[in-house]
Amino acid sequence: MNNRNWWKDRIAYQVYPRSFRDANGDGTGDLKGITEKLDYLKELGIGLLWLSPVYKSPMDDGGYDIADYRGIDPLFGSMEDMDELLREANKRDIRILMDLVINHCSDEHPWFQKALREPGCEEESYFYFRRTEDGQPPNNWRSMFGGSAWEKTPDGRYYLHLFSKKQPDLNWENPRLREQLYDMIRFWLDKGLGGFRIDAIVHIKKLPGLPSGPSNAPDGMVDCFPYARNIPGIGDFLTELREQTFDRYQCVTVAEAAGVPNEQLGEYIGENGYFSTMFDFSYSEPYSYGRGWHTCKNPGEWDFRRWRDTLYASQLETQKVGYGAVFTENHDYPRAIQKFVPEKDHSPEVQKALGILYFYLRGVPFIYQGQELGMTNARFPSIDPIDDISTRNHYRVALEDGLSPEEAIKLVARYSRDNARVPFPWDASENGGFSPAGVKTWLPVHPDYQTVNAAAEEHDPESVLTFYKQMVALRKSEPTFVDGAFAPILRRYDKLIAYTRKGTSPGEKTFAVLCSFSDKTRKVELPFDVKSIRLCSHGGVKLSGNTLTLKPYQSVLLELSAPEAK
Ligand code: NOJ
Repeated sequence: MNNRNWWKDRIAYQVYPRSFRDANGDGTGDLKGITEKLDYLKELGIGLLWLSPVYKSPMDDGGYDIADYRGIDPLFGSMEDMDELLREANKRDIRILMDLVINHCSDEHPWFQKALREPGCEEESYFYFRRTEDGQPPNNWRSMFGGSAWEKTPDGRYYLHLFSKKQPDLNWENPRLREQLYDMIRFWLDKGLGGFRIDAIVHIKKLPGLPSGPSNAPDGMVDCFPYARNIPGIGDFLTELREQTFDRYQCVTVAEAAGVPNEQLGEYIGENGYFSTMFDFSYSEPYSYGRGWHTCKNPGEWDFRRWRDTLYASQLETQKVGYGAVFTENHDYPRAIQKFVPEKDHSPEVQKALGILYFYLRGVPFIYQGQELGMTNARFPSIDPIDDISTRNHYRVALEDGLSPEEAIKLVARYSRDNARVPFPWDASENGGFSPAGVKTWLPVHPDYQTVNAAAEEHDPESVLTFYKQMVALRKSEPTFVDGAFAPILRRYDKLIAYTRKGTSPGEKTFAVLCSFSDKTRKVELPFDVKSIRLCSHGGVKLSGNTLTLKPYQSVLLELSAPEAK
């Protein structure tokens, strides 16, 4: 592994700092809490640790609204705590990735505050401020969190925000703004960071002239994507960003890059790409939200083949040019089992099956905190405890469209991002060992914390946690899982994800993964000979000759005897 690719054979873990471990007993997770738990992560086999934002922020969007790029929010601790975390993590060969949020900042950032106070000042040009003659918004773009993407200031100007109105977009057309951002990035890399996960980076270029578009809904507005995502010219910004910052360090960069067309993947993550790797979201949701959650199809009712083909296409296209980052959960989604499996079939075994499904794909696997415990969605009794801005918006839209609060809260239970943001359950004590007993945690602890928690699972050979440790160890022990070629197989079977990973160097093994999404026991004819069954999600596997019998929602990892999978 040459130096530039030092990150490729590592397993990554995402911490949502507010909910990982509350060391100071104020009900919110903090940096000291993460440092305390590094040995847990080490034991799991983690080598890259992505922290969702810990910068100073009013927390309108969980810290993705930054008011000071060089400061730690007191909620999470101090810069000394951050330095300590870096030191302790590096000691354990765990490299920290911070979240880099540079498409927008907070409206409480001093730049924006000055721009508000002093029209015409330098800082005003760091943002998209506009005046209109008719007093209407400059265009009809819809923000990704709902409503117009323009907010009016008290003195009658408008500013652009693709996300919440407290997240004004930064104007990357301004070279002085760009230089400030690069300087800030170098400040963090100089501290010995492993790199960054880079937020919403595909939005930094807007279509010149900021034109309106034909509306696609009764609100008269239009989705902002065609005007503010992967717009031609973005490559100039991204090349400059790389040259001014990342290229000067041995760091890894993981882009949140939704909607990059296949033919542009090479520009993003090819040999001389803007980033080391990226998340592809094309297959992360099997359904589309449309106007709101109430227009989604239920799990099990979506088009399985289409979803599967999208996953395969993503793997195949990515391997032509580079190396991806694979995941099924993060802080922006409900738990994966909720997305992919009907409620009646949920079980810890199915959690393991979903683990196998993505863990052996080609790319760095990212585990989102609690996934390794088999956590399910939280169960919120009402909208009151919900913090997430996008959940609150979807809930409001559902009520506006005539749903009752009871109906709308069912949607929250299924789709809300807060489902996966509740405190991490460390043990069965009050507050799940996240906060001391008696403390009110910022989001309620998960109702299952007494059974689904790290302490209970650590010594249970059948637990999801133990299974994840096995998956990690196996993935690290075989070079095929890093560089081996991906190929889909057995496409004629419905409700089956199946692929091979074939070693590229002499002596490397070939593996096959099969994951059944059927709720019935089924037989599959294998087009190759099996040397051994290396992993099985549950209940053992029956293999007679080349006929494999899979139980409902069962996944297996097979080592093949033939050098070539047919
Ligand atoms: C993507 C982040 O993952 C999400 O949590 C956030 O709301 C948006 N970008 C805006 O920063």
